[in-house]
Formats: sequence, structure tokens, C-alpha cells
Amino acid sequence: MTEPLKDITSHDTFVDGVPHETFAYLRANDPVHWTEESDGGRGFWSLTKHEDVVFASRHSEIFSSRQGIRLEDMDEEETEARRTLMEMDAPEHTRLRRLVSRPFAPKSIATYEDAVREIAVDLLDSLKGKDEFDFVSSVSRGLPMRMLGRLLGLPNEDLEWLVLRGDALIGNTDPDFTEYVVDQVDTSAYRLLPFRSPVSLELFEYASQALEERRITPTHDVLSSLLETTVEGDTLDELALQNFFTLMVAAGNDTTRYSMTAGLQALIERPDLFAQLPSMTLEQRKGLVEEMLRWSSVTMHFRRTATQDVEIGAKTIKAGDKVVMWFTSANFDEDHFDSPYEFRADRAHNDHVAFGLFSPHLCLGAHLARLEMRVLFEEIAARWSSVESAGPSERLRSNFIGGTKQLPIRVTWR
Ligand code: HEM
Repeated sequence: MTEPLKDITSHDTFVDGVPHETFAYLRANDPVHWTEESDGGRGFWSLTKHEDVVFASRHSEIFSSRQGIRLEDMDEEETEARRTLMEMDAPEHTRLRRLVSRPFAPKSIATYEDAVREIAVDLLDSLKGKDEFDFVSSVSRGLPMRMLGRLLGLPNEDLEWLVLRGDALIGNTDPDFTEYVVDQVDTSAYRLLPFRSPVSLELFEYASQALEERRITPTHDVLSSLLETTVEGDTLDELALQNFFTLMVAAGNDTTRYSMTAGLQALIERPDLFAQLPSMTLEQRKGLVEEMLRWSSVTMHFRRTATQDVEIGAKTIKAGDKVVMWFTSANFDEDHFDSPYEFRADRAHNDHVAFGLFSPHLCLGAHLARLEMRVLFEEIAARWSSVESAGPSERLRSNFIGGTKQLPIRVTWR
């Protein structure tokens, strides 16, 4: 068999879609695969099997996040300056995660359902009378943004500005989203800023002002709750607060947007399933969302760094080596999922790794994202009797986040 390997280090590779044949080849022939980097990087291991990705996720003492969670190599000064919750290990990570997790716990999230539904209904009803539109700009971009605005207690008129900044950070490899494209222009002046982008300074400033207002007049939103001292007497300092705010704007927006978009794309391919939506039970709708998450695997990878020599799949990973957990490959592992390339809403035991799995870093926003996706598709089912593609879609230029930037659709209203 010839090696159909595409360059997984190149952001351009992913513009045409996830190179599934490459990952399938690696899973079958070289599941723990070494890649040299041509841009001066020191090379990395790819974990492509579900089992190995879960092993690395679970063993954060062997696979550290402290030296970065993206492929790029950063020196110590850079790593330190750009550190957020994601680039921490225990016990520092455990402490900060405890401080920020309450508003994202299942109990809290359950109380947001009415707000999510109100936003979904408003977005969909504002389209009434239109049969053709771009699903991303009209629907999936607006819902996560407006919900995050509610959670953080931010005025509606600031949300567009915030989302553009979030896109510029997470989409820092796509010229449509930022002029500071990390692998195309010299961004060395911003090497000490999150996402190597001056845009994070704007978000820091915005966060400081919003926090100051809440110090003077406390409100009942997530930002105010972050200012409270815990029962253990713990508080967050200003930089930690700014970093967390920036992380939420970056991590909480486009991931959910792209997962919803990919979910609709899957249903466009499966009109039979779309027709079943209105009669699905709550459990079935939740199962559908899990399959959308597996299918889309929007966060395609996270990186770790080995803290010690470790054997995986007959390969010896050396202390200090970069190790990439390819979630998008693990979610299509044929040894773990039956017919992985089939979209099956009724998949039993769908233990996908779209949010990570058994990891201390398991996505903080997982319950919120699930709720937003379920409610959106419930409201879509109540309004549209059919949906089809109305033109070509376009994907993000990134090997980190896999998403469709625009999805022209044609719908039939009930
Ligand atoms: C479908 C949408 C989403 C996907 C696919 C996704 C995916 C992920 C993944 C894969 C991780 C890393 C897990 C690991 O390292 O094991 C992560 C972490 C994180 N996510 Fe999400 N995410 C989504 C939505 C959200 C939302 C809505 C928020 C917040 C409002 C959010 C906030 C975070 C934060 C703060 C972390 C870092 C957690 C930590 O390091 O402890 N995410 N997410």
C-alpha cells in the first residue's frame, strides 16, 4: 500500500476537509507516528488511536500541558506570558479550575435552558420569510455569542466586537479572520501575548473595565462570581481574570458555532434523519448531539509534552517530546466505533473525545455547548420541514480547529 500521507502540519491541508485517509492510514500502519516539522519546529508524535488518546488525556502527570497545547514551539518566556487554564498542570490547574467551574457545572447549565431557547427562537424567527441564507452568519454564529454575553453579563451591542476578536484569536491561521496570520506574517512582536496576537490586548482591556464595573457594583453574572473569594479564601488575580475572560471569548464561541454547523451539514446529507427530528425523544435528541460532536470533532487536536520516557504502541516517546492527541482521528477509530464514517444518531456508548475524555482539562464548556446544540435543533425541527444546500461552503484554514465558515442553505418553513 502506498502512503497517502498528507502534510498534517500544514493549515492549508485542512481547507479541503479533514484528511481522513491519512489518519486511517496512520491508525492502521503507524498509530504512534513521528512527524518532522519543516518550519524549525522540533517534530512531534501523533497519537491517532482512541485508546492512546484517552491514555494521554488521563495521564496528565506524564503528558503535561505546561509547555503549550498547540503545535508551535514557544520559549520559556513566551509560555509563561501566554499561560491560561489550558496550559497548566496540577496543582496550579486544579486550583484555578475549581475557582472558575461553578457556572459551567451541569446544575448551573440546566438553569440556562430558557435563555438559550429564547435566543434560538429569536434568531430563527427573525429569518421568517427568507428561504435562502447563510446558516453560519444568520444562526450558528449568533447563538453561542449571545449566550456567552448573557452569562458574562455583557451588553448586546458589544457582542459583535467580541466575537470578531475571538475569531481573530482562534482563527489566527486564517487570513479571513486576522491580519496577524501566525505562519504568514512576522508576529514576533506579539510573541508574549495569547495566540501571538495583539488582539488579546484589546480583550484584556475590555475585561479589566467590565471587572472594575462589577467591583463597584456587583451583578449576578459569571464575571461577578469570578471576583468572589471562595470558602477556602482563594481569589483570582487581575492577569488570571483577564486570561480567563480571553479564553472564554476564544474557546466558547467558534467551537460551538462550528459544531452546530457541522451538525446541520450532516443532517443535510441525511434528510431521513432530519425528518425524524420532531418525533425524537429527549434521549434520542441528546444522542444526536453526541454524534454531531463525534462527527465534527471541531477541536482537531491538543498537544502535550512528555515529562518522562514512555512506551506507547511499541514506540518510545522521550521526556521532552511533543505529543499530539488527534481527537479527529480517535473519533473515527474503526477499532473503537462501528462504521465510524457513518453518521448514526442512535450510536450506543458514544464515548467520543470531542471534548477530551477522562482529562483534568475536559472542556469546561461541554455542558453548555451540548445544551445550545440540542435546543437549536429542537427549535429548527419545529420550524423547518426540510433543509438543503444552496451553494458551496468554505472551511477554516487551520489544523487546530475544523470548521465551516459559511453554509448557504435553502429551507422550507412549516
Ligand atoms: C462544541 C463546542 C466545544 C468543543 C468541541 C470544545 C472542545 C474542547 C477541547 C477538546 C478542550 C480540551 C480538552 C483536553 O485538553 O482534554 C476544551 C477545553 C476548554 N474549553 Fe471547550 N469546547 C467547546 C465549547 C466550549 C465552550 C462553550 C466553552 C466556554 C464557554 C469552552 C471553554 C473551554 C475551556 C475554558 C477549556 C480549558 C479547560 C481546561 O484546560 O481545564 N469550550 N474544549
